[in-house]
Amino acid sequence: MCGIVGYIGNGSAKEIIIDGLKKLEYRGYDSAGIALYIDGEVQVRKCTGRISNLELAAADPEYDSHIGIGHTRWATHGAPTDVNAHPHSNTEGTVAVVHNGIIENYAELKQWLSKEHGIRFVSETDTEVIAHLIGIYYDGDLTDAVFRAVDMMRGSYAIGVVCSHEPDKLVAVRKDSPLIAGIGKGCNFIASDIPALLKHVREIYLIENNETVVLTKDHITIYNQNREEVKRDVFHVTWDAASAEKEGYEHFMLKEIYDQPKAIEETLNRRLLPDGRIRLDGINLTREDIENFSRVYIVACGTAYHAGLIGKYAIEKFAQIPVEVDVASEFRYREPFVDDRTLFIAISQSGETLDTLAALREAKARGARVLSVVNVVGSSVARESDDVFYTWAGPEIAVASTKAYTTQLISMYLLALHMGSEKGCLTPEQRNELTAELMGLPAKISQILKLDAEIEAIAKQLYMKTQVFFIGRGTDCAVSYEGSLKLKEISYINSFAVAAGELKHGTIALVEQDTLVVALATQGKLFKKMLSNIQEVKARGAYVVAVAQESCKQLEAHADCVIYIPDCRDEFTPIPAVVPLQFFAYHVARFRGCDIDKPKNLAKSVTVE
Ligand code: AGP
Repeated sequence: MCGIVGYIGNGSAKEIIIDGLKKLEYRGYDSAGIALYIDGEVQVRKCTGRISNLELAAADPEYDSHIGIGHTRWATHGAPTDVNAHPHSNTEGTVAVVHNGIIENYAELKQWLSKEHGIRFVSETDTEVIAHLIGIYYDGDLTDAVFRAVDMMRGSYAIGVVCSHEPDKLVAVRKDSPLIAGIGKGCNFIASDIPALLKHVREIYLIENNETVVLTKDHITIYNQNREEVKRDVFHVTWDAASAEKEGYEHFMLKEIYDQPKAIEETLNRRLLPDGRIRLDGINLTREDIENFSRVYIVACGTAYHAGLIGKYAIEKFAQIPVEVDVASEFRYREPFVDDRTLFIAISQSGETLDTLAALREAKARGARVLSVVNVVGSSVARESDDVFYTWAGPEIAVASTKAYTTQLISMYLLALHMGSEKGCLTPEQRNELTAELMGLPAKISQILKLDAEIEAIAKQLYMKTQVFFIGRGTDCAVSYEGSLKLKEISYINSFAVAAGELKHGTIALVEQDTLVVALATQGKLFKKMLSNIQEVKARGAYVVAVAQESCKQLEAHADCVIYIPDCRDEFTPIPAVVPLQFFAYHVARFRGCDIDKPKNLAKSVTVE
């Protein structure tokens, strides 16, 4: 939520910052702004809408500098207006601030600043208080003023600050919102995420919580809360710049759907040994630890939660440990049975989702062993976990998650198989047979990618529907939830997923002539039951699009259209079965003219409760 970029060096700060903001637009895109130091002043340009609007607002060639900060916003406090857009300044206009996060005590600070310092606020944002605090504390040392301001602030923040009195210094602070510093040659950077900097640097510092970073063009100095300098290892980014580009695809989402065979292969190759054994780097669970777990909680949000639902099936089946799955925003507000015999698994693409992070902290405080399945290296969820399983999907830019989800599924399967074989629930032969099947999945996904045009044609016929139901049983039910979420978030169609067996307990009342029902029927042992559910909706006039395994032709007599996935062991069908649903959502949204990579009201990384 919100992206920040800062630059100091000899290049064009405007160009570098605007380009970086474009790479962070997935984090929020209702308004954007930039502050540059020019001729003794900090000059701000900001406006509502996308970065392209900001480009126009800042097009004047005279408007450029060697230092600046920029922001792309997802509104929390105050509507998305020009005035509420970041950067925010103090009254004199000497300080400019960009901020990602929420200042929880902003109302008290605002009152204090108005009463004691006579400050008049121009925006409705929480961020403006930061600029005024720094302004009143400034006494010739920007770093000191920032420290003093931060001491007053409660909440979550990554901030970037420039000041007209110190044009050779950029100061940034992190608490609970992501922040990295990029190490250039004769230039340095800050950003919320790696893609913003990939064009310029591969070496970065991951800034920790409560740290302040001071950048000049030649140095980066990191300080802890006590203002002591801290040393940090350099993190080398292995992605190439192209991995954060569209590479000729019309949208990031489409590119990321196509990325899946490679991404899944990467997740597997890093973990599977040639003899079929599973090596979980970053995870120190011993056989004793695994035998000692009495229960597992899997906690996540949105798509990651749907991956958790499949994780439950996998762990219960292969490792025979009871599993509860919960959405993170609910977990922390109930009284979960978490103790030191609990394995708590947090799943998160971004690793910055506040609900997930808060649930993780709650579980940790109750004594659980915390393992996270995360995509973004060095993110908050990863850093606060005892063990980390990186999904290695590469950067996922589209708001709608695709390759992060399928690699989360692979990760959950590997974890379950590892736990099962350590516990002795699986023989080495059984494990090897299962891992061999997993190894075959990238090729199967590649086959499904060839269905793109076929699914586009189905979408063309159905994109005007206003309501869609997704149904399935067993793991197909969990895949239905994901298919439904994908469709609603990018096409804005009212879509709803329900366990097929639950239809008759209420939802079927909504099925009428031509209602679109997407039926997942990939599970052999549940097939007959699923067929009955399909017949039930057909009897009420529904138009049924089914997803089935290739060798199962029986559905053709019952469904209006069947999308086939290659045959696969029932346990693993969630991975191939979701791909046609991703394509379907994508093409429906495209025919409806929706902004696929940046759907309305959403952001990629949800760092507010
Ligand atoms: C996915 O398509 C969604 N945009 C959303 O549900 C997402 O999965 C959720 O916000 C969790 O994000 P995370 O994986 O980064 O924690």
